[in-house]
Amino acid sequence: MILFDRVSFRYKSNEETSFAIREVSFSCRQNLIHGFIGGNGSGKSTYARLIAGLLHPEAGKIEVCGLDTSAEDAQIHRKVGIIFQNPDNQIVGTTVEEDIAFGLENLAIPTNDMPEKIQQIAEEMGIENLLKKPVHHLSGGQKQLLCIASVLVMQPEWLIFDEPTSHLDPWSRRNFWKMLEILKQQRQVGIIVISQVSDDFENFDSIRLFADGDLVFTGSPEELKVANMADGLIHLPEKWQFEKLREAENA
Ligand SMILES: Nc1ncnc2c1ncn2[C@@H]1O[C@H](COP(=O)(O)OP(=O)(O)OP(=O)(O)O)[C@@H](O)[C@H]1O
Ligand SMILES: [Mg+2]
Repeated sequence: MILFDRVSFRYKSNEETSFAIREVSFSCRQNLIHGFIGGNGSGKSTYARLIAGLLHPEAGKIEVCGLDTSAEDAQIHRKVGIIFQNPDNQIVGTTVEEDIAFGLENLAIPTNDMPEKIQQIAEEMGIENLLKKPVHHLSGGQKQLLCIASVLVMQPEWLIFDEPTSHLDPWSRRNFWKMLEILKQQRQVGIIVISQVSDDFENFDSIRLFADGDLVFTGSPEELKVANMADGLIHLPEKWQFEKLREAENA
């Protein structure tokens, strides 16, 4: 469970600008795919960094799995894995194998146990044939799978993806969502996906829409579709817009 209790936040360097999170409260349950949506600068990545304990609230409290993110950084970093938008910033190994091993070293796993764990996670992500490859030979989609493997091998309880689909072609996007459904079913893990890609919205179990740092909508994709409140804040799926037009015509 993730709990935001009257959380306020401002970037220190940004005190004169308007971006701020003001007394925002919400909770996210595990075993669901939560969508965080909103326009550029609405605060989505900031929420991700707050949950992962990379930033701390100025006031209020954030709990992840019962731990206060301000008090227990080290534990929070183990519980929350983030996959950033640009995989190049996240990959630290020179080969696929080495990159996955790096996470295991962080967990102080004995060297003898590593090959088996690396093989397992690589098979789960379908990159076992790439283990010996230099990371700079990977495609964008393969790099993303490697980042997910390197985070998953640390067995986090929450996974946060920051705009994972924005660089993917429609085919890879479909594969990404299939992979996420499998992760949700096979691992006891909570998933947050930040996205501005409207075609992603129907894949979410629950959606939170942010605008200017504020949480302005919480509900299911179905509820967002009929809420009529996302206009100007986010682009809704074309399919929904057509459905609305058709309904209006038939009314
Ligand atoms: N390190 C920082 N220092 C100061 N201000 C920042 C910093 N990071 C983000 N901001 C500001 O905070 C606001 C929210 O940024 P954030 O990155 O959370 O938005 P976002 O919804 O993820 O946007 P995008 O869709 O462009 O990724 C923006 O106005 C941004 O300029
Ligand atoms: Mg962002």
